[in-house]
Amino acid sequence: MKVINLGTKEEACHYVSNELLKQIIENKNSVLGLATGGTMVRVYEQLVNLIRINEIDLSEITTFNLDEYIGIDYDHPESYYTYMHDVLFNHLPSWNEERIHLPNGSSENLQEEVIRYEKLIDEEGPIDIQILGIGENGHIGFNEPGTDFNSLTSVVGLTESTIEANSRYFEAVEEVPKEAVSMGIKSILKAKRIILLAYGPKKAQAIQKLLTGEVTTDLPASALYNHPNVEIILDNNAYLSET
Ligand code: F6R
Repeated sequence: MKVINLGTKEEACHYVSNELLKQIIENKNSVLGLATGGTMVRVYEQLVNLIRINEIDLSEITTFNLDEYIGIDYDHPESYYTYMHDVLFNHLPSWNEERIHLPNGSSENLQEEVIRYEKLIDEEGPIDIQILGIGENGHIGFNEPGTDFNSLTSVVGLTESTIEANSRYFEAVEEVPKEAVSMGIKSILKAKRIILLAYGPKKAQAIQKLLTGEVTTDLPASALYNHPNVEIILDNNAYLSET
């Protein structure tokens, strides 16, 4: 695991958007593993700009998102489907919608849906670069503390702390979905390369725990020590803060 503090949020986001750009330029059939959340907004803004100025065609690129809420429709303003279209897909006309994949949290048969999604990752993958944020409790995807490291895509419950953290996007905390479909920890570790991005003081505690090197299901991100090609990209606040 390589840990790189790039000082500022802007530089840390640039590293991630540049690595995605290089991957897309190197292989026009790349498979990208994408994340949502506040952390990635700036990454996608930068990526849209870089793809525009390089006039890159994205029609052969495949994407898989980590997760989607259960209990809200895909076109709900706070669904991850809407997020991805608002911040990335709608800004670049050459994406091929058929190659854009998110779990379907509105499926009438979620047990079939989780199997379908995992199978699709196996068929279309492996994912060349998986980007990850980290929850304040150390979750990756929506794999909350206690999740088995062998987990595949499944229906997961969100913890109180995740619901609280995500309530900033909803009118009231009661409106935040309590469940999601999420790629599992084992699904995430199938990627060839993983880049976890964390900035700001709220992430410092989880990062401090991660950097102790202890591998424990209490901190799902520590499963990344079991992967040979992981970078942890930080700013000063996530790296140094005592909070
Ligand atoms: C998002 C995801 C989550 C977030 C994490 C951090 O698809 O899977 O693990 O990366 O909750 O969220 P933010 O970036 O909002 O702090």
